[in-house]
Amino acid sequence: MVRPMASSSVPPVKTAGASSRSPAKSPAKKRAKKPDAEPASADKAGMARPKRAPREKPPSIVVKRIHRRDLNRVWEFLKLSFRDVNRATVEYQRPRTKQRFFETYEEEGVEQLLFMVKSEIVAYAEVTYEILGQDTWLNPRYFEKRDMRPLYVEELAVHPDYAGRGIGSFVLEQLDHLAKLRGLTHLVLEVAENNENALAWYRKRNFRKLDAAIFMAKSVDVPDELLPPRPLPPPREPAEESKE
Ligand SMILES: CC(C)(COP(=O)(O)OP(=O)(O)OC[C@H]1O[C@@H](n2cnc3c(N)ncnc32)[C@H](O)[C@@H]1OP(=O)(O)O)[C@@H](O)C(=O)NCCC(=O)NCCS
Repeated sequence: MVRPMASSSVPPVKTAGASSRSPAKSPAKKRAKKPDAEPASADKAGMARPKRAPREKPPSIVVKRIHRRDLNRVWEFLKLSFRDVNRATVEYQRPRTKQRFFETYEEEGVEQLLFMVKSEIVAYAEVTYEILGQDTWLNPRYFEKRDMRPLYVEELAVHPDYAGRGIGSFVLEQLDHLAKLRGLTHLVLEVAENNENALAWYRKRNFRKLDAAIFMAKSVDVPDELLPPRPLPPPREPAEESKE
């Protein structure tokens, strides 16, 4: 089972130009910002000063380890995130069944991370530090021979509504971080060639193709089981009645 550990939250990135100086240390600046420039008549006439709308803090992306209570929501998230991808690829790009996904949670050595914006799941990543299971597509000797110590990325998905906002990049940064902490040398994953968006995205981030299976197909010349259409014959002329 994946041991639920204390959530680790990533502190929000400081906005550019944000000063660490205490405002008390720069009273001159503070004074200069007072709305002295307002027409004096505004107060005198009893008119309310236009209030500045309080600037809203941009929400943070918080990363946490999955909890049992998250499983249903994450499964729904995965179905949605891989919906379009699975239409285009031969191989399923996510766990095939909900049951399999729930079993994964119980497995030792699987790290399942959720990326949240407020209470919404915006991304999911699943990694293992070794090849798990008997029936696997990976040959550990391939990596050993090359002095590669991989972090295996089993799943990586961003909510489609949050695409193109740097969340996927943040997920990769987190996985890179985990690999570094454990002395691993590579992130290794499988992506379908038809999943062109993800493939281009990985390539741009320095992922290079290893030896991998390519799904091939050749059409067999089989006649159709159903016969082709044929012209409908005209109705028969009614037989002439015998005069006898
Ligand atoms: C592939 C996938 C993970 C990318 O996630 P994403 O969150 O859209 O990725 P990012 O936002 O980090 O990067 C997308 C683009 O947005 C741009 N971008 C826009 N705003 C950004 C911001 N604020 N910060 C960083 N990048 C930003 C990036 O430059 C990037 O463009 P590039 O690839 O030309 O450099 C996501 O499309 C996905 O989950 N797809 C479906 C599931 C899937 O196929 N998973 C992989 C199969 S294993």
